[in-house]
Amino acid sequence: MAMDPALYGRRRERFMAELGSAAAVIPAAPLATHHADCEWPFRQNSDFFYLTGFDEPDAVALLLPHRPEGERFVLFVHPKDPAAEVWTGFRWGTEGAVERFGADIAYPLDQLQGRLTEFLDGADAIAFRVGRHPQVEPLVLQTWGRQLDRASRSGSAALGLVAPCPILHRLRLCKEPHELDRMREACRLSAEAHELARSITEPGMNEAQIQSAIEAHFRSSGARGPAYGSIVAGGDNACVLHYTANSAELRDGDLLLIDAGCSISDYYNGDITRTFPINGHFTAEQRDLYSLVLSAQQAAIDAVRPGGTAEEVHLTALTVLVDGLIELGLLSGDSEGVIERGDYRHLYMHRTGHWLGLDVHDVGAYRLGEKPANLTEGMVLTVEPGLYVSDRLAVPEGQPAIDDRWKGIGIRIEDDVAVVNGGCEVMTAAAQKSLAAMERP
Ligand code: GLY
Ligand code: MN
Ligand code: MN
Repeated sequence: MAMDPALYGRRRERFMAELGSAAAVIPAAPLATHHADCEWPFRQNSDFFYLTGFDEPDAVALLLPHRPEGERFVLFVHPKDPAAEVWTGFRWGTEGAVERFGADIAYPLDQLQGRLTEFLDGADAIAFRVGRHPQVEPLVLQTWGRQLDRASRSGSAALGLVAPCPILHRLRLCKEPHELDRMREACRLSAEAHELARSITEPGMNEAQIQSAIEAHFRSSGARGPAYGSIVAGGDNACVLHYTANSAELRDGDLLLIDAGCSISDYYNGDITRTFPINGHFTAEQRDLYSLVLSAQQAAIDAVRPGGTAEEVHLTALTVLVDGLIELGLLSGDSEGVIERGDYRHLYMHRTGHWLGLDVHDVGAYRLGEKPANLTEGMVLTVEPGLYVSDRLAVPEGQPAIDDRWKGIGIRIEDDVAVVNGGCEVMTAAAQKSLAAMERP
């Protein structure tokens, strides 16, 4: 995927327009240690990537709207170094940072400490996310401290540190058309993997084999790999929400829950869950609960529209689930009371969705003060109701004991949904989910 520097330039302009006369310091991610001196594959910081498209560790971007005449986009990067590149691969260096990534000027990282003062001087505030960047934070604080020491003579210093995130995350929450296209691509590959997984599943296989097929599809299709730890959970394992062992045998008569999605080259993610019978045929109880989750999900998807809220989407799914559970005898009472008291939480213990984007649990506020944030065109959220019947959580007082025939059924159905003019677009529709499609003829 060719990198379009103008795209990132427009984002920086939008960000700087909102920064006013604050200067932003935005660090890249460092490499993360796995064990001893082995590192995890590099994963860029999403805020940094959103503003730069630069995919190397440790870099630091300065965005300097207070310098209308001078450099406003400065990158500090690992310099070209053949001896290091023999070990860890190609680097763009300072020349590449300018020519390819549109920096007004770039310096080797070891000049960051010495040059921060020159670039931050004159800004009314310093926009930096404290608590997240232990390598860069002391340098920012020292620079500000020195400004304050000199203020009586220089006549100026930043008045404070401010958080860049509220601005940046508001921008990231509303996806541009280009981002929606990239998310469609991540969703397409993720949906293909789910279709493949269902087509090869047989009783007696191991969860690990299904996980391997899914992740092989991601890699061989050009994706970076799984967007998060794939969940391939047969039977009762599906009632463990973050089950990632993926090492049990798939049993005849059980359901298989698969929560998997890929991350593509520019980090956009798919996040899909499908649940189907391992032997191709639902039992009566599995069918009842699957139909209920599917109805809840469809009703919730129908609630995704401009002017709606993520809270409404959740409440829509929850109401359908609770009504259905009362009808099936798994809950008792009136639906409003059950919801108010949280008496359903031993069967449905998570929210119905989250924002999706460069992060799987993407950034952006769900509430603005007391009010849930309104959905607007370009937002993308998951819609993922589920039901999980096991003995792990106590049945709330006044609610019926659960008959054994329901136990060990865990179901979630998850799609990625974009808010569009007049309604929504289910970006993951290519992964089938109808009752008929989940069964074998
Ligand atoms: N796979 C992570 C989630 O569904 O939130
Ligand atoms: Mn999700
Ligand atoms: Mn998921």
